[in-house]
This record gives sequence, structure tokens and C-alpha cells, in this order.
Amino acid sequence: MAGFIKDLRDNGNALLIRVSVIAAIGGLLFGYDTGVISGALLYIKGDLHASSTAQEWIVSVLLLGAILGAAISAYSADLASRKWTKVASGAVYAIAAIGCALSVNVPMLIGFRFLLGLSVGTASFVSPMYVSEVSPPRLRGGLVSFNQLAVTSGILLSYLVDFAFANVPGTWRWMLGIAVLPGLALAIGMITVPHTPRWLAERGRDDEARDVLDRLRENDDETDVDGEYKDMEEAVESEKSSRVRDLFTPVMRPLLVVGVGLAFFQQFVGVNTVIYYAPTILQGTGLTKSGSIAQTVFVGVTNVVFTIVAVLLLDRVGRRKLLLIGTAGLTVALAVLGVYFWSPGLQHHASYLALIALMFYIASFAIGLGPVFWLMISEIFPTGIRSKAMALSTMVNWAANFIVASSFLTVTHWITREGTFFVYTGLAVVAFLFFAFRVPETRDRSLEDIQNDLVGDRRDTLQAANQN
Ligand code: BGC
Repeated sequence: MAGFIKDLRDNGNALLIRVSVIAAIGGLLFGYDTGVISGALLYIKGDLHASSTAQEWIVSVLLLGAILGAAISAYSADLASRKWTKVASGAVYAIAAIGCALSVNVPMLIGFRFLLGLSVGTASFVSPMYVSEVSPPRLRGGLVSFNQLAVTSGILLSYLVDFAFANVPGTWRWMLGIAVLPGLALAIGMITVPHTPRWLAERGRDDEARDVLDRLRENDDETDVDGEYKDMEEAVESEKSSRVRDLFTPVMRPLLVVGVGLAFFQQFVGVNTVIYYAPTILQGTGLTKSGSIAQTVFVGVTNVVFTIVAVLLLDRVGRRKLLLIGTAGLTVALAVLGVYFWSPGLQHHASYLALIALMFYIASFAIGLGPVFWLMISEIFPTGIRSKAMALSTMVNWAANFIVASSFLTVTHWITREGTFFVYTGLAVVAFLFFAFRVPETRDRSLEDIQNDLVGDRRDTLQAANQN
């Protein structure tokens, strides 16, 4: 387990670690906003006289903004660079955080939450993209997953901030406004990091690309820098096209199925019903309001701890194995939650079972689907089309997030809580099968190698067809 840290210590260098950590602040913004609103809403409701519909909009408009943010940044990651897109994302985030904190009515708050969403959507895919393009293959899993660690830390931090400001005058304004700090940290931090070698090579700035790669691999005895540079140049050369319709060519299709499938299932196993509604679910077990909020913190801590385990294991055990183990685990947890809510006897005699199942669920998500989705979409697509393909996968992820989050309470109403968990169990089984049959191992392979494997046959067929 210590392999990743040891390798990073022996062969990583200060620049690589610094840029990976700064880029991962993007994940912190994402996580913080995911978590902060549930607590803040309790106070916004009264202060701004928000109806239930208004409250739903305050929560979900961020997800709509994120879908659009991902779409816009697909272009800006190519045109303006990964680096400057992230600087802009941090700056917009800081402005939107202040705007939210100073909102005097519901429409103003909804407007600034939308702006926040634009920034979160952007950060959510440019962060993994940036880190995957600066990392050597054997450290890529752990470094890209710093981002997921930042997401889960952001969620936990938001619970603690909600708790800290619950009795301070201004309550929700502080909870939302304090997010200006990570926004500024991201914007300022990103100004200090270099462009990725791949983006520079794509722009024909070869000398700079080589220079940055050399700096990133200084002290790294394990990487053949010449070989890495050559592979990158070749990949850039062969993948010059970058139009949206190239996403749907036969060569791209198998890659897109994996990316979009992971995006869809990451949300449709119900993770955010747990993140957003954990207190509500726990209250359903007979706990008081404050008791259920306190127990939610356990869920947040479990999420962070098991993401750390994932960071340490992804480059050793491999993505696929963790994905399958994690998905099997969360399927069992979902079935247990279904049975729990279905059986009055269990609810009466074993109310702790719900908390255990929730913690087991989140631990399983955290070692598998949580980090693996973001990691894989940064690995499987060819350079020339990467930003568009990652953006599409990210948009599907945010759209699925929006659908699941906005339908959970209604669906529970229709088919009962146990029914809802059984539906998620069924979806998790389908997810497991999809991963088992479709998702390749990407550990310790160059980005070029992975793509060749996924589309190799078709690429040859197409090239042969073109020559005839
Ligand atoms: C997901 C989020 C989720 C978070 C929970 C992320 O990978 O994309 O939707 O809230 O994990 O840890």
C-alpha cells in the first residue's frame, strides 16, 4: 500500500506534486458545493422566504450550470488551454461565492448558484485532465485521484462549516461565502503552474512541451522521458481532428460507450441520494434531527478515508479490480437498505443497521466508482478529441446527477423507500455487468497504449478501408 507514496518520494518531483495538488483544488470546489447546501438551506428557507419549489431550484440549478460549464470548457480547454480555463473557473467561483453570500432574494441566489455551477462543471473535468497530462503512467491513478480526494474532503469540510456557522449571525451567508477562499486559491495557484506538455505539443510549441516534460520528470529514474515524449508527439500527430462529430465515428464509439457508461452508472447507483439525503434517510430510522446530522459526519469521514485507500491502491491493484469490488460492495449495501426499510422488525430492533449499510455503501463507492470514473475518462480518449469526449462524459454525469437528485423524493413517494433502494440495487447489478464486460484495465499503461487497445482493431480496419 505504501508503494505509491514511496514511488512518489523516490521518483516524483516537487513540481509534479505541487501542480497535482493545486489542480485538485478544483475538486474541493466541487465537493464543497455538493455538501454545503443541505445545511445552508435550513436557514435560507426562512430568511429569503423560499417555497419548496424555490428550494429545489436553489439546490439543482447548480447541477444545470455544471452541465453547461462542462460543455463550454470543452472548447476553452483546447483554445485557451487547460491552465487558463482553470484560472477562470477559480475566479468565477470566487465571484459567485460572494454573490451567493450577498443575495437579497431567491432569484439572485438562483442566478449566482447557476454561475457557481458553471465553474464547478468546468473544474470537474479540467482538473483530472490537467493532472493526467502531467503524470507519468505509473503514478497517474494516485495523482489524478487527488482530485476525488479533494471532492470528498470538500464534502466533509462543508458539513463541518455548516456545523460551525449554525449559530453565528448570518449563518448561511458565511456557509456559502467562505467558498471564496478555495476559489481564489485555485485561480492564483493555477497562474503559477505550467501548461501541460500535451496541450503545448498540440499547439506546435514543441520546445516548450519538451522543457515542461523534462522539468516534471526531473529525478524520475523510472521514466524513459525520450520515449514518453516521442509517444506523445506521435499521438498528437495522429489525432489532429477535433470536431464534435468526430466523437461519433466508429473508432470513437467503443471509447465513448465506456466513458458515458461510467458517467451514467456513477450517478444511477444513487450516490448523491446518500450524500444529499443521508440525514433524511437516517431520520427515517427514528433518529432526531441533530443525531442524524451528527451521523452524517461519519458518512463524510468514511468517504474521505476510503478515498485515501483508493489513492494508495489504484496504481497497484488496478482500476478494474477496485471498480468491480467496490460496485459489488455497494450493491450489497443497497440491498440491505432495501430490506431494512421493508422490514418493520429490523427498523425496530436494529436501527444501527441503516448507518452501517450507508457507511459500507459509501466506502465501496469511494474505493471504486468514485475515483475510477474521473480517472478513466482522463485516460481512455485520444489527445485530439480528449477535451470534447471528457466534456461529454462529464455532462452526462452532471445530467444524471440532476435527474437522480431531483427525482429521489418523488420516486420514494411513488414506490416507497424500500422500492427505491431495490431499484438502485437492480441498477447496480447492471452496472457491475457493464463494468465486467466493457471496462478495460488502464493501470501502468501509456495513454496511447490504452486507446490502441480499445479501438485498435477498428482503427486498422478503417485505415485498410481507406487505403483500398
Ligand atoms: C461524484 C459526485 C459525488 C462524489 C461523492 C464524485 O465522484 O461525481 O457526484 O457527490 O463523488 O464522493
